[in-house]
Parts: sequence; C-alpha cells; structure tokens
Amino acid sequence: MNDAQARADQLRALIAHHNERYFALDAPEISDADFDLLVRELTALEEAHPELATADSPTQTIGSAAIGSAGGASATFAPVEHEIPMMSLDKAFNTDEFDNWHTRLVRAAGEGRDLGSFVCELKFDGLAVSVRYENGTLVRAATRGDGRVGEDVTANVATIASVPKQLGAGAPPVLEVRGEIFMAISDFEALNEARRAAGEQLYANPRNTAAGSLRQKDAAVTASRNLRWFAYQLGQVEGAPTFAHHSETFAYLDDLGFPVNDQVKVVDSADAVKAYFAEAEARRHDFDYETDGAVAKIDNLAMQRDLGVTSHHPRWAIAFKFQPEEKSTKLIDIQVSIGGKGKATPFAVLEPVFVGGSTVQMATLHNEDQVKLKNIRPGDTVLVRKAGDVIPEVLGPVLSERPEGLPEWHFPTHCSCENHHPLTRSEGDAAHYCLHPTCPIQRDAWIEHFAARAAMDIEGFGERTVQLFTAQGLLSDIAGVYELDFDAVGQIEGFGETSVRNLQTSIEASKTQGLGRLLIGLNIRHLGNSGAHVLAKAFGHLDKIIEADLETLAGVDGVGPTIAESLRAYFDDESHLAIIERLRAAGVDFNGPEVVDVDQTLEGLAVVVSGGLENFSRDSVKEAITSRGGKSPGSVSKKTTALVVGESPGASKVTKAEELGVPIIDEAAFVELLATGRVPGQPADTA
Ligand code: IVH
Repeated sequence: MNDAQARADQLRALIAHHNERYFALDAPEISDADFDLLVRELTALEEAHPELATADSPTQTIGSAAIGSAGGASATFAPVEHEIPMMSLDKAFNTDEFDNWHTRLVRAAGEGRDLGSFVCELKFDGLAVSVRYENGTLVRAATRGDGRVGEDVTANVATIASVPKQLGAGAPPVLEVRGEIFMAISDFEALNEARRAAGEQLYANPRNTAAGSLRQKDAAVTASRNLRWFAYQLGQVEGAPTFAHHSETFAYLDDLGFPVNDQVKVVDSADAVKAYFAEAEARRHDFDYETDGAVAKIDNLAMQRDLGVTSHHPRWAIAFKFQPEEKSTKLIDIQVSIGGKGKATPFAVLEPVFVGGSTVQMATLHNEDQVKLKNIRPGDTVLVRKAGDVIPEVLGPVLSERPEGLPEWHFPTHCSCENHHPLTRSEGDAAHYCLHPTCPIQRDAWIEHFAARAAMDIEGFGERTVQLFTAQGLLSDIAGVYELDFDAVGQIEGFGETSVRNLQTSIEASKTQGLGRLLIGLNIRHLGNSGAHVLAKAFGHLDKIIEADLETLAGVDGVGPTIAESLRAYFDDESHLAIIERLRAAGVDFNGPEVVDVDQTLEGLAVVVSGGLENFSRDSVKEAITSRGGKSPGSVSKKTTALVVGESPGASKVTKAEELGVPIIDEAAFVELLATGRVPGQPADTA
C-alpha cells in the first residue's frame, strides 16, 4: 500500500470515529476546527489521487449514519427518512475561499445573468432538526442524521416551548420547517451553576448539552432544559404560497409563529456579504447563543434551482467559518509558578496553537483539584479553548490519543527554587503555598507585582528586569526599588543612558500613586484590588490602617473577617513594618484619595451595567455607583435593581433581566437613578 492510500484509510477511520463521537454520542473529542482539518486533508488527497476516492468516503456523505457509525438502528429513536435530504453547507475558511465560491457561481450562472441578492444569516452551533406539520399539526420532528435518514425525536422536540404544536388557519397541507435547536448561553451557565452547587460534573459547552438534552429517552428531561430554536429553511412543502425569494420565506415562517433570528440581512453584493461576515464575527459574543460562522445564500429561488446541489451540499450557499475558539494541542508539561504571596499555581505548558485569535502556549490550571478534575497528564493531547479576550482554558484530554501507560501528574512537594522549601496545602484551602520568607522566586514575584500596572505601575520593571536586578544583587525587596544604585544599573548590558533615565523617571513617578495602589503592591494575602481601594478610602492613610484593631478593620464594608485577620497579621510582622519605613523614607505617598461627600442615594441597591456608556468609563461608572453606597455586580440576579444598557450590551445579561423582570434602562435614566435613587418609570419602593 502506498503512503497516500495509507493516509486516506487512516483519515477515513479517524473521521468515522469523530463523527460517531459528535453525532451519535454527543461527546466530541476534538474541536470542530480540527475535524474540518481532517476532512480537508482527505478531500485534498482524493482530489490529488482520484483513484483513492470511494463512494462511501466521508467526503461524499454527511454527518454520521443517524445511528451510530455502523448504520444500525438507534436503540432509542426510530429512523426517519427525509423526503428532501438535509444537506450540509459548503465552507469557506477565509475571504479568498469565499471569493472563489462567488467566482464559481458567477461562471455557473452564465454570461449576462446576475446572481441577484444574497441572504446573510448566522450559523448557529446547535443541532439541525426538521419539523413536519400536516394540516397545521406537528406530526414529526427528526434530526439530520446522515442527511438521508435521521432519528425521530418528535416527543422531545414537542417539549420545546418555541416549537408550535399547532399552526393557525392558513397552514398548508404539508410543511416541513428546518432549523437549529440550541441552548442559550445564559441557560447553559445557569444549568452549570446549579450542577456546581450540587457538586455534579459540569457540562462542557452549550452545543453538546443541547444535543444531549434533546436525545433523551425521557422527554421530561428535555422539557426541563429550556431548549430553543431558530427556523431558517423550508423543507418539503405542499400547498403553500410559492415564493420567488428565500428572504420571503422568513416573513412567512414568522407569520406562522416560528422563531426566526433577527440578524438575517439581505444584501446586494459579495463585498456586502464579506462585511456581514466580518461584523458577525466581531459581534459573536454579543449574542446569547453560540455561532460558529455566518451563512450566505443566494436569495433568488429560481437561481438556486439552476445552480443545483452536489452530493454533499447546495452550490447556492456557503458557510463562512469563524476563527476556531477550540483546538487541540499537545500538553508538553504541567509546571508550577510561585506567586508573590507564595501561592503555587499549576499551569499548562502547551505546544503553541493558534486559537480564538491568538497563539496560546500557556494556560493556568488554578490548583491541584482542577488538574485532577480535568484528568490531564503531561503528554496528553488536550482541547484548548480561547474565546476572544477571554483567558485561555484547557478543557480536557482527548482520551483516544492518550499514549499507553502515560503517568499521572502529581503536585510537586517542594518549591522549585534552589532552597527547595516544602509546598503545603492546608485543610479547606484549594491552593498550595510556599511559606518560606526567603524564597527567591517569591521575592522576585512580589517585586514584579509591586511594579505591575494595577499596583505602582512602574514602566520597564517587568519580570526580566526584576530577575536581572535581583540576580546582580541590586535589589532584594520592594523598598529596594526606591534605593536602586542607578550607576550600577548603567553597568548592566542592555541598559543605556536613556533606558536608565526612563526607569528613574517612572520609579520617581510611582511614588505618588497613592494608598490604594500601594496596598495592592504590599501583597497582602486575601486583599484584592477593589478591597485595597476600599480600605484606602475608608482610612485615608496607611498609618491608620496599621494602627487599626481587628474589629475596626472587619467593620469596613467590603472587608470582612478574613481580610481583616490577614491585614492584622501582615502589619504585626516586623519585617513588613521595616519595609514600610523604608518606603516612607523614600517619599512614597501613604495618603488615600480625598473623600468628597456624595449623597448615599444607592444605599442597598445593586445596579448592573452592560455595554459602553457615553459619559462614563468602565471604572468611573463603578465608582459612580459605589461612591453612592450602591453595589455594582457583574451579573444580573433577582436582587438587581436595574440593568443599565449602553452600546453593544451583553445579550445574556439582557435576556436574564427580561426573564427576571429587572428594569432595563438607558444612560439618561441611569443618571437620574444616581441622583434620586429611584428607577425612572418604576413605582417608588414603599417599604
Ligand atoms: S441552511 C441546505 N442555515 O449548519 C442548507 N444551516 O453544515 C441547509 N446551520 O446542518 C442548512 N445555521 O445544522 C443553514 N442559518 C443556517 C444555519 C445552518 C446553522 C447548520 C445546520 C446544518 C449545518 C450545515
């Protein structure tokens, strides 16, 4: 057997395996993007070696046989033959591929014939269903299966609130509506929140959860999952009005009571399609449902018929795939970093992988329990997720690719510094700590943290500089930053006159950052950034905090007993007081912000803000709420007083607010709320 033949066989086996994991078991092991790569490689191979192509190659068929890869009958669901096959969509992974599709179509349409307009839609990441009505009554719902034969999921689909069970007068004798079933992101998060609270294993993502929820023997389980759907295409139709354009079918479906997505747009040119794709990708996280691309369909139905279909997909439509947000890569190692407070945090060292718009080669694993829960081992192939600006996450291993005998990973017992201090984990704490005060890794991490943006914000004082200075003996703690011998710094290779001067200037400037940032830089266990600023405001001077007793500290709103104890322990430590005296001598400002008296209009209220406001920055809007005695949590709940929406608000927050009946207000109403403590248009609280 030659190499091409062997690889083609291997690819077919892999694709069959992953098809079954995805379609039949709802438990994919690799990302859609990686799966697409396998199919593409096989397609290219078959094109280069036509003799290798087979009729049953996965490049010629769609999805999985409804029912397991062997094509046998599903144990749970009866097979349903689709009168009109449920096809897949051709895909473009970049604008060049879209342009090629467009050029092909223009050629196929023939000289002098215009393709006409395009309908742009989002590509929902859920599962396709076909719902059949006869004389207005829902008679059957089926999954796509292999495109020809799907599974009968009528009982399950009938539990979905937005699937009409009965159509009004004027319904045609036969109507098949195709669409995508999904779970809203907010519902998925709430479901996982409940599972977390119950100590149950979390679901991986909304798509698989939706699929798993639909393919339940017990339809009551489906009913409890609040699935939704969007209708996007007609299947078999008899006796309905005839349409000239696909876009007209949306109005028809809408009239009949089917949910259609509000992002559908008819455009006139290929350039406008590309603009839609770009905008859809940029806004993909604004929606309360997952999308993995956008779709363009030729609007003119006569043109669609003329262009026709291949064995696999219609020629008149194309899916533009977004940058993948999940990909697999090799987990090279699990290492542990020691933070400024001695906290030992495991992190994944990955073979670099481009995902979610950037290259990822490291991801935090948080703590020992998380590594155990994820069941990952160095040497595993792992699935990595990175969505937009979100921090990359290792989701779990691809078990089918785990090398035999791969050893489990154990949390190191000792710090990796040259002193090898023991790492300890105390009861009730998820984290390990190196508690030794002379650990050089901790020392460097603390100085780095002190100079970091959220603390003293000293430009040019990053990890490399700190390590260089401590290694040269120029620096051994945070106060040393203000005692640096700049002549000696100038002797270090890479530090020219200008960089020394710049460093000197930014160190000098940092002295006036004020108490809040200084407290962050002092690196006090349990004290986060917002707690530090709260303290700075409440006490006004570092000395007052140092002198305060436990009760006074714990009495500050937003501090609490754990932080109070930690503060007391910190300032009872002579070595810390000595550092503070050196900071004082260097002229570091110990004063908190000037407190202006504002009316506490929002006392006891919680105001959530989503989207950009015109007259407030992210920080200043928080400040405006908290300085008036209000809270500004990150998510909407029953207790939320109002949701303020600005430009491009998060859809999940809006949906949640609507569901809970939380008032949704604009910026002008927000300004009024700040002044009066009342939500405009709402009855005053009589309590
Ligand atoms: S149209 C003949 N429109 O993508 C075209 N499909 O790979 C039939 N999908 O199985 C599909 N959003 O599950 C169409 N707006 C949309 C879609 C969409 C998601 C899914 C659907 C289909 C798959 C095609």
